[in-house]
Amino acid sequence: MTEQKKTVFSGVQPTGAMHLGGWLGAFRNWVALQDDDAYDVIYCIVDLHAMTTPYDPAEFNRRRLDTAKMVLALGIDPDRSLLYMQSQVPQHAELAWILGTLTPTGVLNRMTQYKDKVEKGIPSNLGLYAYPVLMAADILLFHADLVPVGDDQKQHLEMSRDLAARFNNRFGDTFPIPEPLIPETSARVMSLAEPTAKMSKSDPNPKNRIDLDDPPDVIRKKIKSAMTDSDPTVRYDVEQKPGISNLLEIMSVTTGRTIDELSDEYETGGYGRFKEAVAEAVVAELAPIRARLATLDDDEVARILQKGALDARTRAERIQQEARDAVGLGRI
Ligand code: AMP
Ligand code: TRP
Repeated sequence: MTEQKKTVFSGVQPTGAMHLGGWLGAFRNWVALQDDDAYDVIYCIVDLHAMTTPYDPAEFNRRRLDTAKMVLALGIDPDRSLLYMQSQVPQHAELAWILGTLTPTGVLNRMTQYKDKVEKGIPSNLGLYAYPVLMAADILLFHADLVPVGDDQKQHLEMSRDLAARFNNRFGDTFPIPEPLIPETSARVMSLAEPTAKMSKSDPNPKNRIDLDDPPDVIRKKIKSAMTDSDPTVRYDVEQKPGISNLLEIMSVTTGRTIDELSDEYETGGYGRFKEAVAEAVVAELAPIRARLATLDDDEVARILQKGALDARTRAERIQQEARDAVGLGRI
């Protein structure tokens, strides 16, 4: 039976806080896929990826554990999902090396996230450059069919598909071609204070985003001070009203009501009333996450990760051996 299930794989970096953008763009799908019997789901804290930008080693362990805790608080259940830390499964790095030998540098030069990061002043290094190759290895290592991510990962996913196809062409059919799963709405939640940029955890201004563990009052304050415009009509218009459009999208996906319905209801009556309603919708959406977070303790999370690493290594090794055999690194 398990053989017929589709395999789902996704990853999150243990850098900064997890926020509403990630929840609506990707993590909500993580939970939905776990709750659907048709899928075998694997979620990974990608700590090796997080090392590609400057970080503080003294804080890193804490962040890795906190990220795992937050993933559990989202509703990921270790009895139904495989959850583990990337660095504890050495096959990731090994497969990344093999895939690296199939990756033209010209393809890496076109990666927009790499270019953006370097433009922002993040020091370039081989790890940052090869980031999408390691991501492809993550996905292929488990023969993943489906990868739930936000819109900003589309290009990386395309590259994973391309590398799977290159491998298969050169060495024979080994890897299924993974499909991205990107929500139609909310794939790109925008920043509250600067609604033309995406909500991001690397943004130094914490008012730009809602963190998943923000208390209700902080959520209300942040939404109240969200950037809007001077024409007080609530209407969806990304060009003229990026702030209001973003809030409409957030409210629509958190309440399940359509944007048309919401703009009819809140069109007149001013931004104050509308923002209060958006804030309450977000508070309600995140309440179960905050509640679960409060019940999790470090030791329990560490135990779950140890068990996850063991299971992930066993599964990864089977596929990795096929890849080694295919490329001519078989047992002698
Ligand atoms: P990050 O927060 O950058 O680690 O991303 C974690 C996941 O959330 C990835 O799948 C991203 O594509 C997704 N994501 C991050 N920011 C946003 C956003 N502002 N809107 C939608 N999805 C996002
Ligand atoms: N690059 C992804 C992000 O920033 C994280 C990631 C690493 C990932 N490996 C992955 C996502 C494999 C999906 C599948 O969000």
